[in-house]
Order: sequence, then structure tokens, then C-alpha cells
Amino acid sequence: MKINIAIDGPSGAGKSTISDILAERLGYVHLDTGAMYRAVAYTALGKGLKMDDEENVVKMIEEEMDLKMDPDGTIVCNGEDISEKIRTNEISMAASDVSKLGNVRKALVAMQQRIAADKGYILDGRDICEVVLPDAEVKIYLTASAEDRARRRLLQNQEKGIEGDYETILEDIKKRDYQDSHRENSPLHKAEDAVEVDSSDLTIEETADAIMKLVNEKIS
Ligand code: DC
Repeated sequence: MKINIAIDGPSGAGKSTISDILAERLGYVHLDTGAMYRAVAYTALGKGLKMDDEENVVKMIEEEMDLKMDPDGTIVCNGEDISEKIRTNEISMAASDVSKLGNVRKALVAMQQRIAADKGYILDGRDICEVVLPDAEVKIYLTASAEDRARRRLLQNQEKGIEGDYETILEDIKKRDYQDSHRENSPLHKAEDAVEVDSSDLTIEETADAIMKLVNEKIS
């Protein structure tokens, strides 16, 4: 029996990495919902639309976007491979802006629910546990202390050759946590029926093991 897994939690807790590992172990598909907001922003910018033009952005999603998301991570929109093009800073900002629009969220949530209806999906993101997949068989609130997330981000940055110091990264993470917990649409908080997994003192593999244990209890 296949189930759906919903993963929520603060930025930098490793939701996406863990979702990929779980998908691999279970033979499930990790649906990258953030990439959907990014694809909308990319396509809207290409059409010269403003990121607060809710009516036309929604019309574009419904009438002009043919979005294909491959389980291998390839994202094709209207025949163009946009997998890398949606990862720029400009698109990150624009995606954050369009994701604030209520009717854009409605359209993408409906799309995500249609895809996940077949079961065998792992979705991660702010609204997954309570809005997109309230009936998911396994719901996880993946967290880690701000200090641990800052240390991980610093290491990642160093590996990529990006400069930055621990204190500034920690400040940014704390600021983002505050902003995310206080925003109007789908603020960051643990759903009542989600299981909290704190990855502060766990490796990525140990974190995946802890979630696999919960998944196995449901599917066995
Ligand atoms: O996870 P990401 O950085 O690729 O997400 C891009 C933007 O979309 C980010 O601003 C958060 C937003 N987002 C959202 O509002 N709801 C989701 N389920 C996923 C992402």
C-alpha cells in the first residue's frame, strides 16, 4: 500500500534533502512544490507580468502553463527545460512574491492535490500538512535549532565558495523564522497531528531513519 508523506518545518531544516532520500528509499516521488511557485514566477516574468498582478498570473497558470515535473528533478514548462533557470536569486524573490497571492496558492494547491491523489508522494513546504495534504498518512514537522541550521548553511556556503560568517547567517535564520511564523498565509507552525522530528543532533541518514520508522509503522 502506498501512502503520502507531508513534511513541514523551518527553512534550513533539510526538508528537501530528506524528502529526496525518502523518495529514493521508498520508490516514491518527491514533488517539489517550491519549484512550482518558481515556475509560475519565471513564466510570469517572461510574459512581462507584475508579481502582484493576481488576476493575470492566475489566468496564465490556468490557460497558458503546461508544467511537467519529472521524478528525476527535471522541470519543463511549455517545452522549455527550466530546471536550472528557476534557481536564480531573481526568481527566488519573484517566487516569494507570487506565493503571497491567495488565488495563485489556490491554483497550485489544487494542482498538487490532483498529482498526489494517486499516493506514493512526498511533499514538503509550509502549507503541506494543513492545506495541501491534510489527510496524509504520515505528517512530519522537521526542525533543528537555529544554531545548527546556521552551522549547516555556513558549511554549505563554504563548499560552494560563498563568503559569510556564522553570526550573520544565524541572525538571518532567526529573522526568517520570525517572518515565516508571522506571515498571513500559511504561517510556519507545527500541525497538531504532525510528529516533530528534531534533526539538531542527527545526521541526514539518521533523520531519514527516524522518519522511515514512522512510515514503516503505517505501511506494514
Ligand atoms: O522552497 P523554495 O525556496 O523553492 O520555494 C520557493 C518559494 O515558494 C518560497 O518563497 C516559498 C514558496 N513556497 C510556498 O509558499 N509554498 C510551498 N508549498 C512551497 C514553496
